[in-house]
Amino acid sequence: MTILVTGVAGFIGMHVAETLLAGGRKVIGIDNLNPYYDVKLKKDRLNRLDLYSNFTFYELDISDRAALYKALGDHSKISLIVHLAAQAGVRHSLTRPFDYTAANITGFLTILELCRQLENLKHVVYASSSSVYGANTKMPFSVSQTTDSPLSLYAATKKANELMAHSYAHLYDIPMTGLRFFTVYGPWGRPDMAYWRFTEQIMKGKPVHIYNHGDMKRDFTYIDDVVKGILEVLVNPPEIKEGHVPHRVYNIGNNRAERLLDFVEIIEKTLGVGAKREFMPMQPGDIKETYADIDPIHRDVGYEPATSLDEGLPKFVNWYKEYNKG
Ligand code: UGA
Repeated sequence: MTILVTGVAGFIGMHVAETLLAGGRKVIGIDNLNPYYDVKLKKDRLNRLDLYSNFTFYELDISDRAALYKALGDHSKISLIVHLAAQAGVRHSLTRPFDYTAANITGFLTILELCRQLENLKHVVYASSSSVYGANTKMPFSVSQTTDSPLSLYAATKKANELMAHSYAHLYDIPMTGLRFFTVYGPWGRPDMAYWRFTEQIMKGKPVHIYNHGDMKRDFTYIDDVVKGILEVLVNPPEIKEGHVPHRVYNIGNNRAERLLDFVEIIEKTLGVGAKREFMPMQPGDIKETYADIDPIHRDVGYEPATSLDEGLPKFVNWYKEYNKG
């Protein structure tokens, strides 16, 4: 049994692949190593995976379908896919919209078409986002709510992925599950996200830019909980049966809405250094509050996050200090 992990040099991808490899699974990883953020970090993540003899890596762009099918089309052994390759980032989608259509629309379709070629495929788990809840205000965000009001192109592409997956699951009986990730953080994380930027800025004595004057809440989810959730879902595909589309969507969050200002305080406390707070207006495309209802994923696969922000955020900060000590 071989598992394909796309976006394997990314934050979540590396952790998923590492857990699978350590458990003795065969993993094929793909990534285009694009320069959205420091490529050295992506290569360092890959170096960890290269330690495993059961790991194979292809440097591939998911929007290049000829190259992708040439490399993977005859891999009849691929039975599971964790599709995480995407252009991420909410606010970045306002300045680089075409990067989002290339990776998240064309790239996503390329993966769906690849799925049709893999005769032993059992399940595809793909990344959606809490941002699909957009202008919704009813808390907690539940998968039973309508999500037709995205506030950014990024969110719109993630919603489009859910619809595209549904159509392919219906047409070709490919079992698929979309996971709406809620602001995932932890060691080996993403430099464009608030936890990384704030830690870096505080350590350098630079001001931290706090959006919407700090009046924000996020359901922050620790990476180990996310990996556990992905793997619990992966081995529990939706059933293929008459009159039923084998596609579903879950939230994967921590089930707590934390205040952004408390988040800054935890980083300050861990570093033992005060932040220079620079309060800024709400940014276009941003969501004020997120909070995940995780009852369905708990009920169906037993997902239960175990890491509070107080415990997880210092783990990131301590990893960051170690990684950057040079
Ligand atoms: C993050 C990721 O960037 C998306 O890829 C992912 O899909 C999304 O989570 C999700 O959960 O769906 P976001 O929640 O906006 O998006 O995460 P951050 O960029 O880390 O921002 C967290 C909070 O800090 C937000 O309230 C944001 O406005 C705020 N922030 C961010 C600041 O106040 N200052 C900054 O410099 C950066």
